[in-house]
Amino acid sequence: MTQNIEYKLKEQDRRELKKILDQFNYDKNNLISILQTIQDVFGFLPRNSMFYLAKKLQVPAAEIYGVSTFYTQFKFDKLGKNHLIFCDGTACHLRNREILGLVETLLGIKPGETTSDMQFSYEIVACLGCCAISPVCMVNGEIYGNLTTNKVKKLIKKLRKQ
Ligand code: FES
Repeated sequence: MTQNIEYKLKEQDRRELKKILDQFNYDKNNLISILQTIQDVFGFLPRNSMFYLAKKLQVPAAEIYGVSTFYTQFKFDKLGKNHLIFCDGTACHLRNREILGLVETLLGIKPGETTSDMQFSYEIVACLGCCAISPVCMVNGEIYGNLTTNKVKKLIKKLRKQ
């Protein structure tokens, strides 16, 4: 079964994965770094790569899957060009109800989804660590604070034009 699934990897993907594993000496103690590198290279964790890793690192696929689902940093689907992360931690939650509703209306997607044109991915996390400027979001790695519905509307409009 494992062999069959691995066979479905594209040759180019297999070469990329091999390069990453070579870099980490096939050491299963580096599993998180390996997963991070795969995500950097592919933009997400291709599901088939889990089985390839399992075989090459000699670790059960369930363990690899367990680690990669435990950490929210890992994604199994390709993200949109613009990755919007909105905070819904305690400080932000008090003032972001309207904002989150607006985002979902403007983008037409729910948290964890990507627009069909691959322009936007949207997700919600517990705290972005900038509570003093809540409500907060992070767009393509950049923090935006003291959000209002107006600011968010402008931000999404600007991102659509890029
Ligand atoms: S609760 Fe939103 S940044 Fe901390």
